[in-house]
Amino acid sequence: MESIERVKTGIPGFDELIEGGFPKGFNILITGGPGTGKTIFGLQYLYNGAMSGENGVYVSLETSVDGIKKQAMQFGWDLGKLEKEGKIIILRIPMDVIKLDLFISINDAVKKIGAKRLVFDSLDSLAINIDMFKVPVAYVGSKNRLTYTGKSRRRITYLVMNELSKLKTTNLVIAAASEGQTQITVDGVSEYASDGVVKVSSVDLGGTPSRTLEVIKLRSSKITPGFQKFDIREQGATLL
Ligand SMILES: Nc1ncnc2c1ncn2[C@@H]1O[C@H](COP(=O)(O)OP(=O)(O)OP(=O)(O)O)[C@@H](O)[C@H]1O
Ligand SMILES: [Mg+2]
Repeated sequence: MESIERVKTGIPGFDELIEGGFPKGFNILITGGPGTGKTIFGLQYLYNGAMSGENGVYVSLETSVDGIKKQAMQFGWDLGKLEKEGKIIILRIPMDVIKLDLFISINDAVKKIGAKRLVFDSLDSLAINIDMFKVPVAYVGSKNRLTYTGKSRRRITYLVMNELSKLKTTNLVIAAASEGQTQITVDGVSEYASDGVVKVSSVDLGGTPSRTLEVIKLRSSKITPGFQKFDIREQGATLL
């Protein structure tokens, strides 16, 4: 049997739920409501990777480079140092540059440090601001790219997943969760277009707010289903 190479998140208690890690090269959707820990999960995955020899790129469409470094530093993760050592790139995608070809920048960053991991934060920011970006929809020969000009959120999701897969990195794609019951994400297709889905939530257990995490799917893997108790503490995210 062909063995699957797995990428450990290093988040305490998490890798055990997924046979030791995410299969290499997968696109994993990290979804949840506001403030549920999606960004921290992504930062911890990149930090742990960079500390164990797997370089990473953090693509931020939401927060400034400084903001991300400060957030990480709260948990003692010195991204500035890792950046200087060429182990991490925090790629801030500006929202005020007309028709930025963001996948060229992402590809360059991945190549520059030989990244094995990538976090894309977030799919929603890209979809909402799609008129600011060029997202390739087809290739004519090896150099000429045709750019998507529509506004379908679903199509954008597929195009992004497709571009990220080509990088050969193992990718965490952050997306907001839907408020409704019938679909997991806002666009309703990210959960199908991705290879794995992890959902983080805040729940109110009889007046005590607490966090949960659920691995909803992971292709090629035996997962531990159901809600797991989860928290964000001094050392970062952890399963309880
Ligand atoms: N140092 C800390 N110690 C404990 N909990 C923290 C700490 N810093 C942040 N948090 C918690 O983590 C939550 C934010 O996590 P994070 O930024 O990862 O959420 P998010 O899901 O990315 O949110 P958004 O959808 O707004 O981007 C905060 O709501 C806060 O409760
Ligand atoms: Mg966030």
